Amino acid sequence: MAQEPEIPITPIQPAQSLPKPRLPGTVIVRNTVDELIDAIAADLFFQAQGCARTFGDFHLALSGGSTPEPLYRRLMYDPAYRDLPWKRTHLWQVDERRVPPDDDRSNFKMIRETLVLHSDIPTSQVHPIHAVRDTADIDYERELRHNLEWREKGHDRLDCVVLGMGEDGHTASLFPHSPALKSEGRLVLINDGPTVTPPARVTMTYDLINASRMVAVMITGRKKRDALERAVLRKGTVAELPIMGVAPLAGELRWYLDAEACP
Ligand code: 6PG
Repeated sequence: MAQEPEIPITPIQPAQSLPKPRLPGTVIVRNTVDELIDAIAADLFFQAQGCARTFGDFHLALSGGSTPEPLYRRLMYDPAYRDLPWKRTHLWQVDERRVPPDDDRSNFKMIRETLVLHSDIPTSQVHPIHAVRDTADIDYERELRHNLEWREKGHDRLDCVVLGMGEDGHTASLFPHSPALKSEGRLVLINDGPTVTPPARVTMTYDLINASRMVAVMITGRKKRDALERAVLRKGTVAELPIMGVAPLAGELRWYLDAEACP
């Protein structure tokens, strides 16, 4: 009998392991922002598909700021994410600056231009914060409750919240020592005061963020390293370093960090 040709075995190279800062939840570290986006986009895709299948829809809340912008772009142009269930997605805002929607500082303007305009998400499922209204927070909270209430109890929560972090350790528009750090049963609050980087904000509260099924915190760049180090060392209180208040009660917390941001 002829001998089978030997199949050359290529040893599997272990992925270069980068040191992971000790944070609560799952920590994903990649060398570059691009590689990090691969990881977060893949997890988001998986989460979206699962929720759309299980509940019939997917409730996604997005932050503004510059960090997640390339992620939103990637979700639109990379064919790997073409099957994201946009038609079943409800798009929410984590926070907004109290400016008109066409102002360059508006988070919704960025989210609309990078994502909404390029997806087939139905307009009725896009939920901008009408931030200049006096009742912006109350209105947004009502809209959230109205859209989530038909789900079974326990499932009436956001499915994925994408957060960033500022150099001062703020997340969403929860700034150090600012009034909105105390949720007091509210899901959305207007936030202002001496520690809030102007303009004033409208923000999701800890109560809402920490009730989510998954929270993805994306942090990149050298400038964020000091605040991240303080969070790792648990140096300070939640009021001093609001990112430390992110602690989902019955959901998953995932940190997505690039090497530069890691202490
Ligand atoms: C915002 C955000 C905010 C942001 C951090 C980090 O409106 O600015 O929602 O919480 O995530 O400020 O901002 P950068 O990504 O621009 O560093």
